[in-house]
Amino acid sequence: MTKTRVAVLISGRGSNMMSLVEAAACADYPAEIGLVLSNRPDAAGLQFASDHGIATDCVDHKTFPDREAFEIALDSAIRKHDIDLVCLAGFMRLLTPWFVDRWHDRLINIHPALLPSYKGLDTHARALTDGVTLHGCTVHYVRAEMDAGPIIGQAAVPVLTDDTESSLAKRVLAQEHKLYPEALARVASGQLDQQTDLDQSCLRVLR
Ligand code: GAR
Repeated sequence: MTKTRVAVLISGRGSNMMSLVEAAACADYPAEIGLVLSNRPDAAGLQFASDHGIATDCVDHKTFPDREAFEIALDSAIRKHDIDLVCLAGFMRLLTPWFVDRWHDRLINIHPALLPSYKGLDTHARALTDGVTLHGCTVHYVRAEMDAGPIIGQAAVPVLTDDTESSLAKRVLAQEHKLYPEALARVASGQLDQQTDLDQSCLRVLR
């Protein structure tokens, strides 16, 4: 089986990247993680990746004069590793249309909300303020507009009456760790539009 070679871009903790690395450790998983790259040298996830024998790199945005120069370096660092698909996993830099277009339909992201609701930051706090009863996460293809693009899959969780931002974030994150590996597998194997997946604790739907 020819596997899709994936670069995972992180900025910090990297728990979603870890869930992708763990899924990709299975012999029949259709993608392999060829690179974990951070824009921050202190990102905790880099150590996990190198401990797992995965190539790592850091392209520190602070060392570039502008966004364009940063993205040229980012693009070139990714291309050195023969990468087919880029997964953003807690990568907290906005990407310009130049980069997004270069990776059109080969760039996916996980966002901690049920898009198109709650684009941007502080999604859990905003959901609690609004009193929504369902919240969740989305994996989508990246387009130039922030947190927009064709949806690959979503997982919904209930919002409980005694939820805090942290308890809700924890419940959503647990679903992110299931959804992202499933969504990546779907993209890597070209199986979009084939089935939905029901889980006992939540509704997780992949196109
Ligand atoms: C995740 O909750 C991810 O959905 C979110 O950042 C967190 C990263 O955690 N991403 C965004 O907010 C992107 N707009 P992780 O580093 O442990 O994967």
